[in-house]
Amino acid sequence: MHSHKTTIAITEHIFRCFITYSCMTILLTATHVSHAEQKFGFGHPITQQQMAAWDINVFADGENLPAGSGTVAMGRDIYVQQCASCHGAKGEGGLGDKLAGGKDTLASDKPVKTVGSYWPYAPTLFDYIRRAMPLTAPQTLSNDQVYAVTAYVLQLNGLVPDDATMDAKSLAAIRMPNRDGFVPDPRPDVPQAGGDEKKSAQHKAIEQTH
Ligand code: HEC
Repeated sequence: MHSHKTTIAITEHIFRCFITYSCMTILLTATHVSHAEQKFGFGHPITQQQMAAWDINVFADGENLPAGSGTVAMGRDIYVQQCASCHGAKGEGGLGDKLAGGKDTLASDKPVKTVGSYWPYAPTLFDYIRRAMPLTAPQTLSNDQVYAVTAYVLQLNGLVPDDATMDAKSLAAIRMPNRDGFVPDPRPDVPQAGGDEKKSAQHKAIEQTH
């Protein structure tokens, strides 16, 4: 009898120890998860410099446009070398979209959507080109080159004169012909009035392509 009781007591003891041990293990594991970074060497904190390379959103009103500038003449050279093969010598389109023309066609039976006829904000053009073009080598142009080729595409659309220079201020000051042609997006998760202005140019560009 005595030895039987002892056996039960020992068994219980082992069982309790097991439970306690399990709980401790779970706790320790939970603590260790938060140190997974150090333990397994996953990831590392991002530096300000690395962040800057991603933080290139230009807003529709020109906020966040970088320093620098470029002329229509400079832009023409870049365009001939790096854009015309896809977009045509005068922006008439080809492999790539038509970039110029289509003025006053949006309400017609055959709307022609181009930068000049359709896009509501000029800073969007800077954002788009810097981010995505030339198609085969995006983000290889300097900010000055992007300003220049932006100036040239606007000139092809008759929106700036031949001798224009684009920089953060002059680009933001351009009023695009279709500026008021967009209706507010009624979905509840889309920021309205005021906030709409602050929507990034990239976001605008995405909306435009739909
Ligand atoms: C290899 C061909 C190619 C080259 C070179 C190229 N693009 Fe494009 N581009 C495209 C294509 C294709 C699209 C459409 C992309 C899409 O809708 O996702 C496009 C879209 C664009 C648009 C948006 C047009 C719109 O109304 O939606 C702009 C602006 C533009 N390109 C400018 C440029 C500029 C400026 C250069 C030169 C620095 C350039 N592209 C070089 C193929 C090219």
